[in-house]
Parts: sequence; structure tokens; C-alpha cells
Amino acid sequence: MSPLYWGEDAELFRPERFIDSPGYEWPRDAWIPFTGGPHVCLGQRFATVESVCILARMARKYRISPTPEIAKLPKDEQWRRLTKWTVGVTSTPGRVDLLFEKR
Ligand code: HEM
Repeated sequence: MSPLYWGEDAELFRPERFIDSPGYEWPRDAWIPFTGGPHVCLGQRFATVESVCILARMARKYRISPTPEIAKLPKDEQWRRLTKWTVGVTSTPGRVDLLFEKR
């Protein structure tokens, strides 16, 4: 979360900060959810691939959208509510009001 590496908006959910672009490489050494060194998590690759698989399967099976109550709010307020998080042992998502409809 250090602004030194991630900028002043470090606390915002902005996944595009993990996309390299000309003149920008996201700071690999400042991203340590699996720690590093000799005891780095053995399941890092597995957990990362599995997470993508789970999300892809969910997106294929369900149409996912904000609940009607959230959908009627302005877009920036929707974004603020849906990406709210708190600090725990890790960053913990807040209440995410989403509607899952079977495709
Ligand atoms: C999102 C999922 C996961 C996260 C965030 C995570 C995170 C971590 C962290 C922080 C450590 C401690 C590293 C240290 O002591 O410095 C660790 C260790 C370890 N993790 Fe994970 N882990 C995840 C999933 C998994 C999975 C799926 C497996 C196995 C299939 C796994 C196997 C291990 C093992 C064996 C260690 C001990 C490594 C050692 O001490 O040499 N982890 N993990």
C-alpha cells in the first residue's frame, strides 16, 4: 500500500495498475501477498491460476450485475460501494451487492 511504489491513490481498487505499458512497469517487488525468499508460498502459481479459472467459470455461467438498488446510483457511487474494503490480516472486501443470473 506504500504510496512510494503505488502512488497517492494506493488505496483505490484500480486493477489496471498491474498492466505494464510503455514507460511503466508495475513494481513486482512491492507486491508480496505470497511473500518471497526461501519460504515463498509454494501454491502461488496454483492459487493464481485457480482464481482466474473460478472467475472465468462464474462469468461464463452467470450474468453478473449490480443489484437494482445499486444500479440506480450514479456510476462513481456504484464503483465506490462495490469496491469498498477494510484492512484485516489482508484487504477484505466489503459488502458487494451483486446479482447473479444464470445465463
Ligand atoms: C490466495 C492463496 C494463497 C495465499 C495468499 C498464500 C500465501 C502464503 C504466504 C503469505 C505464505 C508464507 C510464506 C512465508 O512464510 O514467508 C505461504 C506459504 C505456503 N503456502 Fe501459500 N498461499 C496461498 C495458497 C496456497 C496454496 C493453494 C497452496 C498449496 C497448494 C499453498 C502452499 C503453501 C506452502 C506449502 C507454504 C509454506 C512454504 C514454506 O514455508 O516453505 N499456498 N502462503
